Amino acid sequence: MNVLVVGGAGYIGSHTAKTLKRAGHNPVVLDNLSTGHRWAVRWGPLVEADLADKKAILQAIRDHQIEAVIHFAANAYVGESMQNPAKYFRNNVANMLNLLEAQHESGVKRIVFSSSCTTYGIPERVPISEDFPQSAISPYGESKLMGEKMLKWFGECYGLGWVALRYFNASGADPEGEIGEVHDPETHLIPLVIDAALGKRPPVRIFGTDYPTPDGTAIRDYIHVMDLADAHVRALQYLLEGGESTAFNLGTGHGHSVREVIAAVERVGGRKVPAEEAPRRAGDPPALVADPSKAHRILGWEAQYRELNQIVETAWRFAENRKQ
Ligand code: UFG
Repeated sequence: MNVLVVGGAGYIGSHTAKTLKRAGHNPVVLDNLSTGHRWAVRWGPLVEADLADKKAILQAIRDHQIEAVIHFAANAYVGESMQNPAKYFRNNVANMLNLLEAQHESGVKRIVFSSSCTTYGIPERVPISEDFPQSAISPYGESKLMGEKMLKWFGECYGLGWVALRYFNASGADPEGEIGEVHDPETHLIPLVIDAALGKRPPVRIFGTDYPTPDGTAIRDYIHVMDLADAHVRALQYLLEGGESTAFNLGTGHGHSVREVIAAVERVGGRKVPAEEAPRRAGDPPALVADPSKAHRILGWEAQYRELNQIVETAWRFAENRKQ
C-alpha cells in the first residue's frame, strides 16, 4: 500500500517508515523539515511540503496514489505551547484540518493519528485506560485532543476510518542504529541522561524529588519507538480489515521513576551519571502509566522491549555513534 507518512522525517515517523517498508508497504514522507531531518528519510520519497499548503497535500496524494495516511507532524513541547499557544493551534489543529480535507476531497478513507497520554491531563490513578476522562492541561495536550475530535467528526460525517494512538513516553532508537532521537532543543529525559553520562551535556537535572512516589521522583511509562512503529502498521492493517474507528493507549504498562532511568543508564553505560536535584517542572503529572490491554486485545500488539535496560541500550548506542 502507498502510505503518506506525514511528519515521517521526525523521530517516531522515521522509525515507522522503516517498519512500513519492511512490512511491504511504500512509505511516502511528507515533511516540511522544520523539526524533522532529511537524513532520516531513507525508505521512500520525501515530499518537502507544509501542511498549511493544502494544494501540496492534494498533489502528493495524487502523484503517489496514496491509499492511507499516518499523521505524525506536530509541534510537541508542552512548555513552548504555554508560551505560544497560537503556534500549537495553527500547526497541530488548523493544519491537520487541511490534511483531513485533502483526504476527504481525494477519497483517502483511512488515517492513523499520533495522539498522546497528555490528553488525559493529571489522571486520578494509574494505570490509565482509554475510557479515562480526557482533559488537557496545556495547549499542546488540547491540540492533540482537538485532533482526536476532528477525526471523530470526519468519521461521523464523511465515513473516515481512523485510529488514534495515545503514546506514553516514546524512547529508544532503531536497534540497527540507522535512526534515533534527535530533537533541538532536546527536552526528553533519556537522551539528556545519556548525553550527561557521555559528557556531551551538563549534569542532568532531576525535576522534583517530592512527588508522592516511592523514591520521590516522577514516574513515566517508557515505550520503545520500534514498538510504537509496529503498532502503527497494525493499526493500518486493522483499518484495512474494516476495524471500527477507535483509540488505543501504547505503553508497556510499567512505570519507571527518573532515578530508575538514571540508574539504568549507569548500568548500561558502565559509568556514573552526573545529576543534580531541581524543583518540579511546571505541568508534570506525578505518574503516567498505560493500561495497554485494549491494544493487545484488538491489535494483537504488545511491547517487545519490556525492560528499561533494553530501551536504554538502543538509545545509548545511537547517542554514542551519532554524527548528526
Ligand atoms: N525530567 C527530568 N529532567 C529532565 C527532563 C525530564 O527530571 O531534564 C523528568 C520529567 O520531569 C518527567 C520525566 O523526566 O517526569 C520524563 O520527561 P520527558 O520530558 O522525557 O517526557 P514527558 O513525560 O514530559 O513528555 C512526554 C512526551 C512528550 C510530550 C509530553 C506531554 O515525551 O513528547 O509527554 O506530557 F509532549
